[in-house]
Amino acid sequence: MTLSVIILAAGKGTRMNSRLPKVLQPLAGQPLLGHVLAQAQRLQVDRIITVYGHGGEQVKSAFANHAIEWVEQAEQLGTGHAVQVTLPVLPQTGQSFILYGDVPLVQPETLQRLQQAASSGIAMITLDLENPTGYGRIVRSPQDQYGKIQRIVEHKDANEVEKQITEVNTGIYCVDNARLHQWLPKLSNQNVQGEYYLTDIVEMAVKDGLEIGSVQPTFEFEVEGVNDRLQLSNLERRYQAYQAEQLLKAGVTLFDPSRFDLRGQLSVGQDVRIDVNVIIEGDCYLGDGVVVGAGCVLKNARVAAGTVIQPYSVLDDVTVGANSAIGPFARLRPGTELADDAHIGNFVEVKNSRIGSGSKANHLAYIGDAIVGEGSNIGAGTITCNYDGAYKHQTIIGNHAFIGSNSSLVAPVEIGDGATVGAGSVITKDVAGNALAIARGQQRQIENYQRPRKG
Ligand code: UD1
Ligand code: CA
Repeated sequence: MTLSVIILAAGKGTRMNSRLPKVLQPLAGQPLLGHVLAQAQRLQVDRIITVYGHGGEQVKSAFANHAIEWVEQAEQLGTGHAVQVTLPVLPQTGQSFILYGDVPLVQPETLQRLQQAASSGIAMITLDLENPTGYGRIVRSPQDQYGKIQRIVEHKDANEVEKQITEVNTGIYCVDNARLHQWLPKLSNQNVQGEYYLTDIVEMAVKDGLEIGSVQPTFEFEVEGVNDRLQLSNLERRYQAYQAEQLLKAGVTLFDPSRFDLRGQLSVGQDVRIDVNVIIEGDCYLGDGVVVGAGCVLKNARVAAGTVIQPYSVLDDVTVGANSAIGPFARLRPGTELADDAHIGNFVEVKNSRIGSGSKANHLAYIGDAIVGEGSNIGAGTITCNYDGAYKHQTIIGNHAFIGSNSSLVAPVEIGDGATVGAGSVITKDVAGNALAIARGQQRQIENYQRPRKG
């Protein structure tokens, strides 16, 4: 049986006040539509059909590497019309989820329950709201509150009695494709808004003798839509709170869960401790006992057990071994690989370099395009001069080398095992193992020197 997802994303998103189409606005570091696609992928659906309208080219190119079938809805004539335009590509058999590009956080577990509830041919996600204003209301048969679903009445079409109903339509459904092919061509726009309402298929289903399945979401944020930046920021905070809670349950210490942001995936060992205002992006791993200090930003970082990252360090696309010490104020750029027990201290920048175990650059250095062996010490102010204005070159530093402070290593250059470079040297030629290289002006002394005096 083919399982499809129809994602409605044709709305203009006028209230965002943005050049960026609404479904490309980021939530937790990912475009709204990206979240919906990720859910679809987790459900292993066969087809993803996305209805676009406004800003179509921009949306399409943002997801060019996804297997999406794009269907244009040139004029937004209502949610029913939006699904109608997919009929030419929609399989005749199987089932479809109907989701929204601006309702990003519906969880796979809820969608699985929805699918199970759709054995009759149609099911929907509903929600009880204290303030249901604006939403379509679920009208159930009069016997009792939990009677069978009869139809949905839109807020604008509802009478005073119907407006008292607190169970609302979230707009998310699972429906047999054969039924969509049967019902959608019959929709009319005879209502207050002059729109083709998708909600009218519920009444058609009841007329056909079907019982409408319904489930409630596990979390309210799952069915929350985004129309403006206030809703976007509210949803962001709620989702961050949810993610923080999941991490706390997994055994992570968050010094303040409300001052922690995860924009991607974080997997952890035991007893990880994260101080306030840390941002985790992309795909990160923190091993047992890793400590992340206040204000750090980690993106696609793998950090092995026991490493301590001191405050305000920035790690981007890096691998760090066990028991290393980083920061405060360190910057590790893409391609950095630190072995175990490495020390990268304050105001040290490392890019595209491998640092061997036990090696240290504790203060004010730039290490770019370098390979550093084990147990070497790189003094304060050392710079690898890796760029000649046109090309990048490599610096190789062996094991147990000692690079004196304020040295410039002009690449390509190699410093042998056990070699020593005198402070302030400009090294332009290879240094042999165990040798001392000094390349700096000689110190002169003028005895009894008189400084110029005024007057
Ligand atoms: C719809 C439901 C309502 C439900 C509410 C939940 C209908 C008629 N009403 O309300 O019962 O309580 O969602 O939020 O279905 N869209 C298109 N093309 C269109 C119209 C809409 O792609 O022609 C997309 C929008 O981009 C949006 C989604 O469909 O992502 C919902 O549209 P919106 O106008 O917010 O829904 P309502 O009709 O207000
Ligand atoms: Ca709406």
